[in-house]
Amino acid sequence: MDVFTAISQRCSVRAYKATDIEEDKLKKVLEAARLSPSASNRQDWKFIVVKNKDTKKKLAKAAFGQSFVGEAPVVIVACGTDSKAVMGCGQSTHTVDVSIACAFMILQAEELGLGTCWIGAFDEGETKKILSIPGNVRVVAVIPLGYPNQPPSQKFRKSLNEIVCYEKYE
Ligand SMILES: Cc1cc2nc3c(=O)[nH]c(=O)nc-3n(C[C@H](O)[C@H](O)[C@H](O)COP(=O)(O)O)c2cc1C
Repeated sequence: MDVFTAISQRCSVRAYKATDIEEDKLKKVLEAARLSPSASNRQDWKFIVVKNKDTKKKLAKAAFGQSFVGEAPVVIVACGTDSKAVMGCGQSTHTVDVSIACAFMILQAEELGLGTCWIGAFDEGETKKILSIPGNVRVVAVIPLGYPNQPPSQKFRKSLNEIVCYEKYE
């Protein structure tokens, strides 16, 4: 699968088959995070792989009851380990770095026939408690991963004309 096909056919998956993910596929998804770029190549991140049923249920509760999170065979909790770093442009380094790694994982998952959904609606404090995440570490995203149990959904996107301008802001 080429990159554009993965980008264009990916959609958020909110229903998963109970089928386990093969270890080599999971490793490849995690490798995509490991190989992704980060500011000054800092790699200040940690990806917690959760398979335990009870823990996944708790994570789903912490995600304001989004129960499908607990139904995926694997949940990846993506963390920034240096939440103080700021780039020259003023943006928070860990948010950008971890988001890029998550995007790479999501696209790799697509190529392997696996579904994902970026979860940004979660109680960070609760999530940290569940997984014993230290105070200075920030949770950027929660990503359920598994074989989709839903048909692909349609994409609704703004047109290029609406979001692109040339030479200056318009
Ligand atoms: C930063 C971010 C946070 C999101 N948080 C959630 C979430 O908490 N729950 C959820 O079901 N979907 C969440 N989504 C998925 C979006 O709703 C979805 O990507 C968007 O509607 C476009 O649909 P598509 O992914 O199927 O193309 C999130 C997506 C992003 C990028």
